[in-house]
Amino acid sequence: MSEIILETKGLTKHYGGVHALNDANFVLHKGEHVAIMGDNGAGKSTFVRQITGVEQRTSGTVIFDGQEVHFSGPLDAREAGIETVFQTLALADALDVPDNLFLGREKTKFDWLGPFRFLDYKAMRNDTLAALEKTGVKIPNIRNTIQNMSGGQRQCVAIARTASFHSKLTIMDEPTAALGVQETAQVENIIRTLKEQGEPLILISHNMRQVMDLVDRIIVFRRGRIVANLKKEDTDGQDIVAYITGAKTGAEYEGAA
Ligand SMILES: Nc1ncnc2c1ncn2[C@@H]1O[C@H](COP(=O)(O)OP(=O)(O)O)[C@@H](O)[C@H]1O
Ligand SMILES: [Mg+2]
Repeated sequence: MSEIILETKGLTKHYGGVHALNDANFVLHKGEHVAIMGDNGAGKSTFVRQITGVEQRTSGTVIFDGQEVHFSGPLDAREAGIETVFQTLALADALDVPDNLFLGREKTKFDWLGPFRFLDYKAMRNDTLAALEKTGVKIPNIRNTIQNMSGGQRQCVAIARTASFHSKLTIMDEPTAALGVQETAQVENIIRTLKEQGEPLILISHNMRQVMDLVDRIIVFRRGRIVANLKKEDTDGQDIVAYITGAKTGAEYEGAA
């Protein structure tokens, strides 16, 4: 088996009395694309938030790229090489598209006349146009602030951001839930490109067709626990739904090695 990029051991998050995530043991290999499926409230987004440091875990270990990590927030995780499209979008409402794409990693240039670095707006604008072209997303005016955009457009900006930087790991939490058919197809093309480039991905999705088209392996969450770890070729939609609903139990789940 190839090298491991991400591993969680006993990852647990309780919100007071709500046991949102319990003892999640998960492994992702370099280059691998894995889907996380599960009913609403199963703990999928909670899992992502503990890995990326959006929240601090109750207990457990996260090992990323060979090192135990404890990110203080999503920017910290991004700096380490994890690019995430969150379910509730982490876009800054008052900023325009280029500013959102480069938030936390602005391009600068030297002014040879002085000791200061300046933001390189021209480079950022050009990279933004290239990134959007890659996603096929049409946004009439990229100087529009995010708060004036539709849900689909906002989602596309977030995905363009993910696709335009090389990262060690990409996580997408229901990236196409708010998108139309055409935009969904574009996002799926981005995911295929990541696969070709050998970049690993965790994709949270309810879309069975999409999952079966795109990933190598499927993890099922139910009531805060991982109940199945299935290679795509060993399963089908009916089997997965049985795990999601609890018709089939996860007795045979033995960790995702
Ligand atoms: N900040 C929070 N405070 C209290 N309960 C929460 C919080 N966030 C999530 N939960 C609860 O944790 C459980 C898992 O939620 P979530 O991870 O969002 O599920 P999913 O992404 O699989 O739909 C749900 O019961 C949800 O209500
Ligand atoms: Mg969720």
